[in-house]
Amino acid sequence: MNKTVAIVLAAGKSERLGGELPKAFLSILGRELYQYSLQMFDQHTQIDSIILVVPEQFLTPTKAKHKSEKISLIAGGETRFESVSKALNHLDKSVENVLIHDAARPFITKNLIDNCLKNLSENNAVSCAIESTDTLVVKDADGNVDSYPDRSKIMRIQTPQAFRLDLLKKAYSLALKESKTDFTDDSSLIQYYGLAPVSLVPGSEQNIKITYASDLLLAELILNGLKEGAGK
Ligand code: CTP
Ligand code: MG
Repeated sequence: MNKTVAIVLAAGKSERLGGELPKAFLSILGRELYQYSLQMFDQHTQIDSIILVVPEQFLTPTKAKHKSEKISLIAGGETRFESVSKALNHLDKSVENVLIHDAARPFITKNLIDNCLKNLSENNAVSCAIESTDTLVVKDADGNVDSYPDRSKIMRIQTPQAFRLDLLKKAYSLALKESKTDFTDDSSLIQYYGLAPVSLVPGSEQNIKITYASDLLLAELILNGLKEGAGK
């Protein structure tokens, strides 16, 4: 069977959110944010193991909370690129497939993981994406509207994303060679180096990324809604 590993990224500094704790460690309705997505991967039978990437200072206390053999923890790096890179270096040769997920998106579902894995059986690189409900514009150097791209062709990328490990490792080594490390997701590396088509699967409107303080309020609303739904 193909070995599949999930990498859950929780090592960011939350500069846009601010506050004392990094967002992945903020408590939302009694649980730290990263625990919501971690649990989805932990419960998924097709995920063989999980690497949780956390800030250095959170390594020891977080390790103490996760004794399961399925979960290992490592310290992240200065950038998202570095955090993923460290996780990839941690994987052994038996791993074939890797799913990468931002812990800042707590509302990942089994369905999203299923869709990524199903699509990965026919493709080498997969990303969740949703349509944009806002009209998007390209701005010019003066901050005025330059053009209105055709919205039907524009999608918003989410995580999880799924890759063949050898392909993703190749993309990372090419980027490292030219010190190009400013990618904000992993599908963009694959696309940038023309290594494979990135296949898109439907993401979900609920799969929000916590970026600003207002997103925390939204997250609580979504969670309360999910709890109510589960209770019915
Ligand atoms: N991330 C990471 N290591 C980094 C930077 C980011 O593991 N050095 C993770 C974050 O924890 C998050 C995901 O990558 O789950 C997406 O990043 P983002 O939303 O930008 O989080 P932060 O980088 O923490 O936020 P900001 O950019 O506002 O500082
Ligand atoms: Mg960031």
